Amino acid sequence: MKKILEDIKILDFTHVWFGPYTTMMLAELGAEVIKVEPPWGTIGRMGPGELKNGVSTTFYALNLGKKGISMDLKNPEVKEMIKELVKQSDVVAQNFAPGTMDRLGFGYDVLKEWNPKIIYAALSGFGQTGPYSKNASYASIAEAMSGHTYATGKNYNYDGPPISMSGAMGDLGPAMYAAFSIVAAIRYRDLTGEGQMVDVAQFDTMAAFNCTASVAYDLFKESPIERRKKNPRPPRVGGLLQVADGWVYLMTERPRATEALKAELGVDELTRELVMGKIGDMTRKEAHMYLAGLGFPVGPVYEAYEAMEDPHSQARGMWVEVDHPAVGSYKAPNFPVVFSKTPGEVTSAAPMLGQHTREVLAEKLGKTEEELTALEKAGAIVQWKG
Ligand SMILES: CC(C)(COP(=O)(O)OP(=O)(O)OC[C@H]1O[C@@H](n2cnc3c(N)ncnc32)[C@H](O)[C@@H]1OP(=O)(O)O)[C@@H](O)C(=O)NCCC(=O)NCCS
Repeated sequence: MKKILEDIKILDFTHVWFGPYTTMMLAELGAEVIKVEPPWGTIGRMGPGELKNGVSTTFYALNLGKKGISMDLKNPEVKEMIKELVKQSDVVAQNFAPGTMDRLGFGYDVLKEWNPKIIYAALSGFGQTGPYSKNASYASIAEAMSGHTYATGKNYNYDGPPISMSGAMGDLGPAMYAAFSIVAAIRYRDLTGEGQMVDVAQFDTMAAFNCTASVAYDLFKESPIERRKKNPRPPRVGGLLQVADGWVYLMTERPRATEALKAELGVDELTRELVMGKIGDMTRKEAHMYLAGLGFPVGPVYEAYEAMEDPHSQARGMWVEVDHPAVGSYKAPNFPVVFSKTPGEVTSAAPMLGQHTREVLAEKLGKTEEELTALEKAGAIVQWKG
């Protein structure tokens, strides 16, 4: 079956969460992604996340569909091999701290000399320019500086402290921008023959995700959180509602559904108490079905694994089982957007360290068995032995 990015080759130096998620999305759309790891493995193998067979659960989740090669980028022979691989690539992606790739000899200025069509995705905490540019960063720093941590706390309790968002949104959000921008740069390259640098900062993109709050501030020249505190909204009918086995989330901003429930209850006005009186003893599933049946936007509050087990996401083919040499097999989300002609697909589990080193170097660079063995003995490359 045709894959939308099947002619795109990505040399992937990304090492933790933000970067690997970016390139995984492109792999699922058919790009060939060759993940380059140091002989000791990327930091993403060790965390965050609990270890399973010595490797972080996040690594298994964020590196599907990639080939893994392991090389010491500080070795002169490896540098030559990277040059050849860059010449054969459409995209190079990395999420080291700014300056690291330049020190390794793989900055954009160098790579564009080797391959003027290259799209160089430099993912970082603060971008390649600006006063904080050289600073190291993680998702929670971008979440904090872009207003999300503060707003999450204040949404919960105006008088309480900030609360960290869960789920590494400060990685996954920027990764969406990065993947989308890489695809846009590929389109420009296809139209003009020119590559370019795509400089994606976690701080910038997370601030962009907070656009409604920043625009609201600018329109009133006052913090929207402070304004809400001064002018509290009337108590909501919907929101999080506790039922027999957990919670459901109900939105009551759909007049036709509200009218249907009012008619059913025989009341002129809907209150939270009336809704609770109706659904409080139901299970999440019963409340979900009942309220959705009346036309409300509503859903059970799930833990992630429950979304995996939900019959709707099963029916949408959302989960795939991938075989893995160390852990047997595991289930992961399939590419979650349905294309009518060019579906995305998860083709393989996250690679073992150096699983495809010899295969890739032989195929792409014509390295012989003897040359590869010599490189391995010199510690320049690592091949997984099975
Ligand atoms: C995440 C982060 C804080 C980690 O810091 P770090 O582990 O010190 O990583 P750095 O990017 O600074 O450097 C990686 C080091 O590994 C080395 N390295 C990486 N791959 C290598 C390879 N294949 N062979 C040899 N060395 C390698 C680099 O040369 C560098 O070492 P050096 O500083 O001695 O040159 C930092 O990479 C960062 O700020 N990245 C941008 C923001 C981001 O994406 N954060 C993570 C989101 S979860």
